[in-house]
Amino acid sequence: MIHRKCFGLLCIMRMDAVIFKMTNAVCESYNKSWVEFGLCRLRAVSRNKVCLNVDANLLHPVHDVIVKARLLKRANGYKPWLYSLSFDGCQFIRRRNNALIRIVWELFKEYSTINHTCPYVGLQQVKNFYLRSEKLPTPIPTGEYLLMIDWVFNKKPQAATNVYFTFVEDLKDS
Ligand SMILES: *[C@@H]1O[C@H](CO)[C@@H](O)[C@H](O)[C@H]1NC(C)=O
Ligand SMILES: *[C@@H]1O[C@H](CO)[C@@H](O)[C@H](O)[C@H]1NC(C)=O
Repeated sequence: MIHRKCFGLLCIMRMDAVIFKMTNAVCESYNKSWVEFGLCRLRAVSRNKVCLNVDANLLHPVHDVIVKARLLKRANGYKPWLYSLSFDGCQFIRRRNNALIRIVWELFKEYSTINHTCPYVGLQQVKNFYLRSEKLPTPIPTGEYLLMIDWVFNKKPQAATNVYFTFVEDLKDS
């Protein structure tokens, strides 16, 4: 966010120092004959920019995806849950018809190979994805968060990707 402060004719523009970055990423396959993670790693590019790289190999085609997502916020441990939702991944990719999911998708889509319609098979990648606060429609409360996603193929959970992130809005002089 840009703030403007004026003293007589002199105006000073100031950007809020927002820290919005991932702090940990954990990928787990529940069924290694279907999903194999070759890579699931964060890399700090600078103090406030952390990139996520994931390689997931789908050994069989996926035609039916339910994405089960939960957003937790830390307060003496991660508390369930700020938001919890399930959606049909193949249908969302075709229609982009859910505002909340679209926010996450907008953050994410340029960095991933999954931006095509079902089915998915073979290597699926997330490359150098990082969080950008300017892509959020509104700031979120300062805190530490955990986005847990279960990937359900053919009605059974086959993998999980859990990403921890932090959001700090640093309003130094207000
Ligand atoms: C694990 O993956 C294989 C290969 O796609 C599939 O045939 C099998 O049903 C899966 N197991 C479970 C419990 O979903
Ligand atoms: C998918 O991502 C690629 C690379 O960023 C982009 O060029 C392409 O237009 C995207 N396709 C769709 C269907 O969004």
